[in-house]
Amino acid sequence: MVDQRSIVSCALFLVVVSLFEPTFEQQSQPLPLGSTTERVALLELRSSLGLRSRDWPIKADPCLIWRGIQCQNGRVVGINISGFRRTRLGSQNPQFSVDALAKFTLLQSFNASNFLLPGSIPDWFGQQVGSLQVLDLTSCSVLGPIPLSLGNSSNLTGLYLSHNNLTGTIPASLSQLLHLSVFDLSRNRLTGSIPTSFGNLRNLSVLDISGNYLSGAIPPGIGTLMKLQYLNLSSNMLSASIPAQLGDLDSLVDLDLSANMLAGSVPSDLRGLRNLQRMIVAENLLSGTLPDNLFPSSTQLQVIVLRNNGFTGGLPKVLWSMPGLSLLDVSGNNFTGLLPNSSLNANATAAVFNISQNLFYGSLTPLLGSFSVIDISGNYFQGGVPGYVGTSASLDRNCLRNVKNQKTLAECSSFYTGRGLTFDNFGQPNSTQPPPPAKPPGKSNKKVIILAAVLGGVGLIVLLVLILVVLLLCLRKRGTTTERGVGVGPITTGSGPPPPGGSINFSRVGDAFTYQQLLQAAGDFSNTNLIKNGHSGDLFRGVLENGIPVVIKRIDLRSMKKEAYIQELEFFNKVSHTRFVPLLGHCLENENEKFLVYKYMPNGDLSSSLYKKTNTVDDSLQSLDWITRLKIALGAAEGLSYLHHECNPPLVHRDVQASSILLDDKFEVRLGSLTDVCSQEGDTHQSRITRLLRLPQSSEQGASGSSTALCSYDVYCFGKVLLELVTGKLGISASSDAEMKELLDQTLPYISIYDKELVTKIVDPSLIVDEDLLEEVWAMAVVARSCLNPKPSRRPLMRYILKALENPLKVVREDSSGSARLRTTSSRGSWNAAVFGSWRSSSEVVVIPGASTTKGEGGSGLKHSGTTGSQGSGPNGGGELSSSRRRHSRDIFPEPSGVQDVERPDQD
Ligand SMILES: *[C@@H]1O[C@H](CO)[C@@H](O)[C@H](O)[C@H]1NC(C)=O
Ligand SMILES: *[C@@H]1O[C@H](CO)[C@@H](O)[C@H](O)[C@H]1NC(C)=O
Ligand SMILES: *[C@@H]1O[C@H](CO)[C@@H](O)[C@H](O)[C@H]1NC(C)=O
Ligand SMILES: *[C@@H]1O[C@H](CO)[C@@H](O)[C@H](O)[C@H]1NC(C)=O
Ligand SMILES: *[C@@H]1O[C@H](CO)[C@@H](O)[C@H](O)[C@H]1NC(C)=O
Ligand SMILES: *[C@@H]1O[C@H](CO)[C@@H](O)[C@H](O)[C@H]1NC(C)=O
Ligand SMILES: *[C@@H]1O[C@H](CO)[C@@H](O)[C@H](O)[C@H]1NC(C)=O
Ligand SMILES: *[C@@H]1O[C@H](CO)[C@@H](O)[C@H](O)[C@H]1NC(C)=O
Repeated sequence: MVDQRSIVSCALFLVVVSLFEPTFEQQSQPLPLGSTTERVALLELRSSLGLRSRDWPIKADPCLIWRGIQCQNGRVVGINISGFRRTRLGSQNPQFSVDALAKFTLLQSFNASNFLLPGSIPDWFGQQVGSLQVLDLTSCSVLGPIPLSLGNSSNLTGLYLSHNNLTGTIPASLSQLLHLSVFDLSRNRLTGSIPTSFGNLRNLSVLDISGNYLSGAIPPGIGTLMKLQYLNLSSNMLSASIPAQLGDLDSLVDLDLSANMLAGSVPSDLRGLRNLQRMIVAENLLSGTLPDNLFPSSTQLQVIVLRNNGFTGGLPKVLWSMPGLSLLDVSGNNFTGLLPNSSLNANATAAVFNISQNLFYGSLTPLLGSFSVIDISGNYFQGGVPGYVGTSASLDRNCLRNVKNQKTLAECSSFYTGRGLTFDNFGQPNSTQPPPPAKPPGKSNKKVIILAAVLGGVGLIVLLVLILVVLLLCLRKRGTTTERGVGVGPITTGSGPPPPGGSINFSRVGDAFTYQQLLQAAGDFSNTNLIKNGHSGDLFRGVLENGIPVVIKRIDLRSMKKEAYIQELEFFNKVSHTRFVPLLGHCLENENEKFLVYKYMPNGDLSSSLYKKTNTVDDSLQSLDWITRLKIALGAAEGLSYLHHECNPPLVHRDVQASSILLDDKFEVRLGSLTDVCSQEGDTHQSRITRLLRLPQSSEQGASGSSTALCSYDVYCFGKVLLELVTGKLGISASSDAEMKELLDQTLPYISIYDKELVTKIVDPSLIVDEDLLEEVWAMAVVARSCLNPKPSRRPLMRYILKALENPLKVVREDSSGSARLRTTSSRGSWNAAVFGSWRSSSEVVVIPGASTTKGEGGSGLKHSGTTGSQGSGPNGGGELSSSRRRHSRDIFPEPSGVQDVERPDQD
């Protein structure tokens, strides 16, 4: 069977080859092999190398049929057996037996890469095959020395001997190969030194001798090879210093001298290397300082690796103006100095910056914001970690505040005082000795042990009593407040609620600012900088030292609940999503006043930017266009959907309103007002128990008709925001229950899935909407109405709202054409079923909580359109036009029970 198949495929192959190869050959070399000497030589080669008939079929013409044979005018000029397999016999005793090659007097190239030739290159090779231009013996397991005679193969332009077991020295005769352009001797076991005469190889563009055992100095002559583009001498045992002449290599693109024993300093002027892109001199014994203008200022450099040498002094200034720098690794030296205070003038978005294990000091600067991968470990940086330093940065073993695994106070202060510099003492006053890192890890264990030893049992007892007291206090708080004590969104499941603040990794919640810094930033918190008195603290605008505008929240613990800011910090500690306002840092050093520092949002919040004064003279207002409003609705829905569905347990925002929807410079939503965020009630056993315990006094019942600690409460509030966006009536989302009732009375009757025109009566008059956009407005109104369902369990889930807002036209079009399909899909929990399930119930049940009078007006509006529908086209009329004439009886829109039930587990 198998044999048969292989024969068939072999035959097929031959057919294919004979079909295509001749026609291909005919175009360039139409002639069959014309020399009998060469035919005999080929057959000799075929048997000495053990080639298969599959590649070189014995009866066929080599020029026309054989693989890898290149002919010109009936003469063989190229032999390519690269990657060929030997016959079973041939592979039993493979040899470097290519004697027959000497008979091809016009042979220009021989490529045997990856073909096993375990033996040494015969002595005659260079003399006999003098016509060769390309010899490729890469990975052939060639042994022994490089024959001197190879220097007689004077037509060679490419000599590839990489990845073999060549031994001995590099013959100086090779420097006679004046046409040589590519010379690759890498990965062999060559010894001795690089012949000084290599400076003669004027046509060389690639010289790779890496991965051998070469010793001695780099010949200065190499610096005269003006066509050299790639020079790799890495992984040898080269010593002495780098010849200054290398700095003249005008064409050089890639220089790798790493992993040798090169000593001394690098040439002080490399400005001749105008085309250099990669410079790697890692793992040598180089030392000395690098001059500021080491490289040309118009440098092309992308990769600079000076790792593990003994360089001293500062980094050359020219580094910071390299436009294309993508990898800078100077780790493991004795470089020192401050980081420049500017950001890198480069497109360094994917750049790697490794300055670890050096003697850099001072504070971290915006420079670090230019790189995506940062390792600054093992230096002496002090101060806080600014927000632009990503969480993935390696910061270990520095003198940074509130970061774990830092150097000891003694190490840090001796470094700083040794240099006549001031150390900030980890932000602590001088008197108190030990620096308290946020999370006392390994390093401070010693101190803890000493402390414990000193205090002994007394300390332990005090500790136990304290823990008991704290526990008791916590329990009592649980009983009186709502869900606040329950951990704010431990994204990881399982573990119980963490003690407030105890689990915060302070390196994840931004910079630790000093009170002084914030005083300065916010102009002493003067009233001119006050933005507003929020319910969780006063908001001030400010500008940090580095010019970054911020918003600072001052939380006065004498008037605010103590857990509030901790809860918010915990939130930021665990949740990182682009839809939430970025927290840049905090200042917790004062006892009664805590501060949180946020990124400044140029477009404020939705309540302030729905209308903008365009002209300060006549106070004319310009309102947000519809596209932007839809984008804002989507953004907010995304953020809430993340909280409700991607956090475990689900988080409830609890303060969804226009003023919580912050807008960045591109009107992208960044949700703010995160003080009240809590995990959804009834989600964990624990909170279910606490809920049971305080059921009678369950206080926070809003207009939503349920506890505010349910996702459905957010949905209700979000419905108000949507209504605000549609109607342009400011303040809907912040209105009280009574105001809201009135508002809904006036508005909801005009929102009907069956009548698009109705909605025009409530649409913001400043929105100039065309027909297409009106459908979207209509859809948003419909979604808003389903969110405002008085029954929490009937409101759609946030993720369905998100889907609906992503496809607003489907909301109004699909339902009108696919009611039958709806009925079948509703049980699967499709998003529009969820939205409409709610819609339907809200059109039957009274829409406005407890307002039976409104049923008349609102109901009549609906019924009117409904009755016209029953007279109109049938249920499958389809199309948007017929949507205003739809029937909406229970049988057409069955209740998709369960889909919209908040407490049910997800169904898709
Ligand atoms: C050499 O032969 C191999 C395998 O047939 C082929 O893939 C390769 O392109 C050939 N190389 C040259 C330079 O002809
Ligand atoms: C030899 O053939 C291999 C492909 O099998 C190719 O990659 C290599 O470039 C060839 N060598 C030369 C010098 O063309
Ligand atoms: C080198 O090439 C030239 C022309 O391509 C040819 O005339 C000369 O014979 C070749 N040298 C050897 C040693 O074959
Ligand atoms: C070199 O020779 C050694 C042993 O003789 C063998 O293990 C190794 O694979 C060879 N290396 C190459 C690149 O052929
Ligand atoms: C070949 O090279 C050897 C050694 O470099 C030299 O002695 C000899 O004269 C050369 N022969 C020819 C034909 O160039
Ligand atoms: C840095 O300097 C110190 C003190 O001179 C020396 O002991 C250490 O080896 C140097 N480190 C490197 C990587 O050269
Ligand atoms: C950044 O990249 C863009 C496009 O890739 C280029 O036009 C611009 O010149 C680059 N900036 C610098 C400073 O190189
Ligand atoms: C620590 O003391 C030194 C001198 O005694 C003083 O210059 C420095 O400001 C003090 N640092 C702090 C954080 O108080």
